[in-house]
Amino acid sequence: MPPFASFATLALSLLLLLLLPPSSVQSSPAPLPSPSLLGRRAVVTGGTKGIGRGVVRELLSCGCAVLTCSRTAADLAELERDMHKEFPGCDLGTVPADVATPAGRAALLAAASELSPQLDVLVNNVGTNIRKPTLGYEPAEVRALLDANLLSCLHLSQALHPLLKAAGRSSIVNVGSVAGVTCIKTGAVYAMTKAAMNQLTGTLCCEWAADGVRVNCVCPWYINTPLARQVLKNRKYKKRVLDRTPMGRVGEVEEVAALVAFLAGDRASYISGQVISVDGGFTRNGALYDQ
Ligand SMILES: NC(=O)c1ccc[n+]([C@@H]2O[C@H](COP(=O)([O-])OP(=O)(O)OC[C@H]3O[C@@H](n4cnc5c(N)ncnc54)[C@H](OP(=O)(O)O)[C@@H]3O)[C@@H](O)[C@H]2O)c1
Repeated sequence: MPPFASFATLALSLLLLLLLPPSSVQSSPAPLPSPSLLGRRAVVTGGTKGIGRGVVRELLSCGCAVLTCSRTAADLAELERDMHKEFPGCDLGTVPADVATPAGRAALLAAASELSPQLDVLVNNVGTNIRKPTLGYEPAEVRALLDANLLSCLHLSQALHPLLKAAGRSSIVNVGSVAGVTCIKTGAVYAMTKAAMNQLTGTLCCEWAADGVRVNCVCPWYINTPLARQVLKNRKYKKRVLDRTPMGRVGEVEEVAALVAFLAGDRASYISGQVISVDGGFTRNGALYDQ
């Protein structure tokens, strides 16, 4: 910009500041629709409940086309009804698929490929838990948690890589857990799967940067979802959780979905390989800071 133009812009800005009433100067501007995800295409696993549903809603609100799955066809139909009511004309596709199985992942891949040869965003959200002391795990339980939480993420990332690469600039967001960052009473196997997801995030970031694919991981502490509500209905345990959380409350799905959408879109274009906790300060709390 020539020096005169920048001087003129500065002078005009100062004039506006002087002329506008103080209230209009202080109030923040109305939020504009983010171009970061408008018209982009996303696959979100496990979109009917909890965090996945929050992510589907957030991405649709940004003008993104979303394909999601769960194992329960009736819940998918209900999700479609609810989202079309809230966002008339939105682009939402659903497919019943169990991503813990090769057949379920193949069904999701087929549905995504049929919609487009390109994919901008993959959110690996599906995860579950069987909480027990380490000595109590049966091999079949270990296998089930590895399949649902970790191998679904690895194999879907592999399967959808050609579509993500074809998009030119794309992003994977994995939904991990603070259980993969520090030690909490989730049981060893859940913690193992989430810790491994963090390492997968870093490795894929390094391997796939050249393909234009960014990879990040968000790690929630307790979030108000069906999965967490089961655990938090124990009032004594819930009090202990809140006591250890500097912000003194559990999180809401929207608070995770906002970060997922940010990482998914172009506003995060130089962020890759990161593992970010959404935890009200939980992972920064030392032993003495009970609330
Ligand atoms: N909520 C928390 O406090 C919290 C904290 C840390 C991390 N996380 C992580 O956040 C993610 C979501 O948790 P959430 O609390 O939102 O769970 P949730 O409330 O239980 O919802 C899980 C969603 O995934 C679907 N799903 C589960 N297993 C599936 C499978 N094998 N194939 C396809 N869909 C499947 C469920 O539908 P169907 O059952 O009908 O298939 C549902 O839509 C998980 O990775 C979890 O580990 C949650």
